[in-house]
Amino acid sequence: MTAQLIDGKSIASQIIEKVRLAVAERRRQGQRAPGLAVVRVGEDPASEVYVRNKLRACERCGVRPFAFEPAVTIAEDELLTLIARLNADPDVDGILVQLPLPGHIDSDAVIEAIDPRKDIDGFHPCNIGRLALGLPGLRPCTPRGVMTLLQVSEIEVNGQDAVIIGRSTIVGRPMALELIRASATVTVCHSRTRGLPEKAANADLLIAAVGHAHFVPGEWIKPGAVVIDVGVNRLEDGSLTGDVDFRSAMDRAAWITPVPGGVGPMTVASLLENTLEAAAAGNLAAP
Ligand code: GUN
Repeated sequence: MTAQLIDGKSIASQIIEKVRLAVAERRRQGQRAPGLAVVRVGEDPASEVYVRNKLRACERCGVRPFAFEPAVTIAEDELLTLIARLNADPDVDGILVQLPLPGHIDSDAVIEAIDPRKDIDGFHPCNIGRLALGLPGLRPCTPRGVMTLLQVSEIEVNGQDAVIIGRSTIVGRPMALELIRASATVTVCHSRTRGLPEKAANADLLIAAVGHAHFVPGEWIKPGAVVIDVGVNRLEDGSLTGDVDFRSAMDRAAWITPVPGGVGPMTVASLLENTLEAAAAGNLAAP
């Protein structure tokens, strides 16, 4: 078997075009452009690349970007003051604080300080709680992007055995909530999981989100499975690779996402969808 590729780059482009048209329509109706504040603390090179991609995507679809790049030495209370200012700014619909933050800053406190209506990353306990309850709300971008990939590719989730490798708050946990909501039977594996190869081999839908290059060998993959590779790992030669050994996985899976060009662009596309939705909800809330 040779797996079919799930082309995240192309699906993300289609979503970004939809957001662009919706933003243009808002403007035509006399409303302002949605505004997205992006806060990157310090000089982490990976964060620099991610944030640059997010700001470029804003430009592509007419979302107004507000970029903040405080020094790595910023004190937590200064960052909280910035968040409070952005919460109160009527031109800002979404606030994104790029993670990870430097060690002296409590990320949970920063995320909780964001107005849940502007929490376009969907990481605030209020939004994670809404996702857990199956209520509408802002949803974490990477898991939302994965659900969109599955939907657009017409891949059945209902009743499938889904196995997620990784329990991070950015991907693994909200991914589990998304898949439960879509009626999959979900197993979340992590560093303490026993019998990981057997558990992975049971997956109709395998989601790898561990952050280790080629962590999942082809032998772990059930023939005909759908493999979603969330990993973005930089090799010594500078190239990017996923958490799945792509070559051996291609021979077993029915569908697979490449790295790069799979899940990564979908995170950005979902961010823009969230920003548009936050702006639309803000309009409804306005007097
Ligand atoms: N760092 C890695 N992924 C993400 C993400 O989706 N959002 C934020 N804010 N930081 C990240």
